[in-house]
Amino acid sequence: MEARTIRFIRRGELVSLVNVPPERTLLEVLREDLGATGTKEGCGEGDCGACTVVLGEADGNGLRYRAVNSCIRLAHSVDGLALWTVEDLHGADGALHPAQEAMVRCHGSQCGFCTPGFVMSLFGMYQNHVCKGQDVTRELAQQELSGNLCRCTGYRPILDAAQQMAQLPAARVDEAGIARQLEALRLQRDQQPDTGAYLAPATLAALLAARAQHPDAQVVAGCTDVGLWVTKMHRQFAQVLDVTRAAELRRIETYDSHIAIGAAVPLADAFATLVAERPQLKTFAARFAGLPVRNSGTLGGNVANGSPIGDSMPLLIALGAHVVLMSERGHRAMPLEDVYTGYRKNVLAADEIVAWIKVPRPGEGEFLRAYKISKRYDDDISAVCLAVNLAVQDGVVRHVSIGAGGVAATPVRAVQAEAALRGQPWNAETVQHAIDTLRAEFQPISDMRASSAYRSEVLGNLLRRFWLEQQGLQQMNLENFQLVEAAA
Ligand SMILES: Cc1cc2nc3c(=O)[nH]c(=O)nc-3n(C[C@H](O)[C@H](O)[C@H](O)COP(=O)(O)OP(=O)(O)OC[C@H]3O[C@@H](n4cnc5c(N)ncnc54)[C@H](O)[C@@H]3O)c2cc1C
Ligand code: FES
Ligand code: FES
Repeated sequence: MEARTIRFIRRGELVSLVNVPPERTLLEVLREDLGATGTKEGCGEGDCGACTVVLGEADGNGLRYRAVNSCIRLAHSVDGLALWTVEDLHGADGALHPAQEAMVRCHGSQCGFCTPGFVMSLFGMYQNHVCKGQDVTRELAQQELSGNLCRCTGYRPILDAAQQMAQLPAARVDEAGIARQLEALRLQRDQQPDTGAYLAPATLAALLAARAQHPDAQVVAGCTDVGLWVTKMHRQFAQVLDVTRAAELRRIETYDSHIAIGAAVPLADAFATLVAERPQLKTFAARFAGLPVRNSGTLGGNVANGSPIGDSMPLLIALGAHVVLMSERGHRAMPLEDVYTGYRKNVLAADEIVAWIKVPRPGEGEFLRAYKISKRYDDDISAVCLAVNLAVQDGVVRHVSIGAGGVAATPVRAVQAEAALRGQPWNAETVQHAIDTLRAEFQPISDMRASSAYRSEVLGNLLRRFWLEQQGLQQMNLENFQLVEAAA
């Protein structure tokens, strides 16, 4: 089965690629088919950022830029978008782009293997912040570069470069021109039938029809899980069904009682929405992978993948989120924890997709915290995750909702610990009982991330930390720790 022609805009010109297999990665196409070897392969699993490129999509009258990992991104997913690699930044006269020039001036590169990736993340930062007159603070630079690893230079000169870009002579992208080209591509695409080895329906109705007609097609969204099946397990797919083009699933809708997040909304946008309502989630959100993964990966993909160490599920359970599954037969909604039936098993029928995640608005008096324990602070998967949402009225626990990750075969609700708290006086004795109950409730496994005993211990400790924070007795922790650089 042949796949449709891939068309995208690069250097202001149309690139067309025919007969690209559905599982071929963007990095393979760039390096092997287009000879664009400036983009490097480091890990091949979305971890190091050497392969970072920037995608542009229409956003009102302008463009929205996203740095993504090309190693785990399927080539077909850039159909209809604009693409920049490290070869595409310099001016017509060969002048370096501010992202490149700042790296040179700040001595941000040694071996250079990571450099193209850093430069592309800086380019994304430049377009999304500097060009909009926003400051690149140290914190912003750290967050947006957390998906790029460097083993030679050290990060200080690279962070300096991020903050120096704005002082250099400006470089501008012809956004209006590219937006017009993208619109022409969209019209062209809409006129063609969505058939072949890579299906990417543009509407929810077409997506559900395709899901029913092709139950064996591999469903993909941002491919930050599936991409690793390709690069590490060498999986091949006869047919792929991409959910991310269905316009309805890319929307975030706000209602009085809840926010409905479309399954294909990138994690970066989904978390931004959650953080806007609950600012205390900012650090937790920023510690979900690195920005390039959050720019590709979707909330629906995290939920459907159902990893027991996935991060959004414990949080969504604590928030009382419901998942809406859809097929041509209709839809059904359920509490998020009811989606899972076993290790990476769920209730989805062969013709169903995850369509929406409905998150209740903040409740009166709610005190919410989400904790992630991982070996590396940034860009790492959890060993243990705990999210607690609690409301106390007249000294008694009126509402409590606890989600946990890394302690069972699926993301779980801590039903017994909740029962130990609900309706009880909110005091140290109740909390100690709940901690003991929580530790006894799950029998976590030992693996490369943590031992069973460690996980149980930490789980209880996190509930204690929640109690201390609620009492205003916040202990010193990594999140509050500010690294102050001594002047040389
Ligand atoms: C370097 C790196 C770091 C990571 N760090 C974290 C982390 O800190 N925390 C964390 O939780 N995860 C992490 N992940 C895992 C991954 O990014 C998330 O699970 C992500 O949310 C997956 O979304 P996706 O859109 O990329 O899904 P995909 O990879 O496209 O799909 C994942 C699974 O979900 C299915 N699926 C996707 N969308 C739908 C849908 N709408 N309906 C039905 N099925 C669907 C697919 O068939 C597939 O089985 C990391 C991954 C990488 C590569
Ligand atoms: S090669 Fe390491 S993230 Fe892509
Ligand atoms: S300069 Fe060598 S890894 Fe970054």
